[in-house]
Amino acid sequence: MNRQPWEFYVATEESLLQKIQTIHPHCAFLTDAGTGIIVCIDTEKEYAGMGIIDVSLASQNLMLEAYALGYGTCYCGISEEQSVALQQLLSMPKTIKPSGLIVLGKPLNATEHTPHERFNPNAVHLNKW
Ligand SMILES: Cc1cc2nc3c(=O)[nH]c(=O)nc-3n(C[C@H](O)[C@H](O)[C@H](O)COP(=O)(O)O)c2cc1C
Repeated sequence: MNRQPWEFYVATEESLLQKIQTIHPHCAFLTDAGTGIIVCIDTEKEYAGMGIIDVSLASQNLMLEAYALGYGTCYCGISEEQSVALQQLLSMPKTIKPSGLIVLGKPLNATEHTPHERFNPNAVHLNKW
């Protein structure tokens, strides 16, 4: 089906980033990072309420590509309340629903970064639970 029910609002202006940070206090590093990508569901395009799945997968892909290009990202969830506040702040149409905020920036010490090993074999169930 591939409806691609997403829109990305990219904020780089410092005054705007500060306002977004006020709505979302758990991303206090946003202004320092310099870019906030608000990932939104286009509720007119999504299929059967599954837009959150589409935009979450798109977010992961975006973050992997950003990493490959030498950037750092942090995914920040958005509550219902924050979603409404961001929609108003950014003058979005009512059909566009902010669902996540990807903070994007240049890592200070990219060469020292090593990915965490978090594979948990106990969470994998091969042919039986
Ligand atoms: C649904 C969801 C919401 C999140 N919200 C926030 C957030 O608001 N602020 C934040 O700093 N990290 C948030 N995180 C955590 C970061 O995305 C990231 O997973 C965490 O910092 C661990 O990073 P690491 O894997 O590099 O250690 C959230 C993660 C998820 C899955």
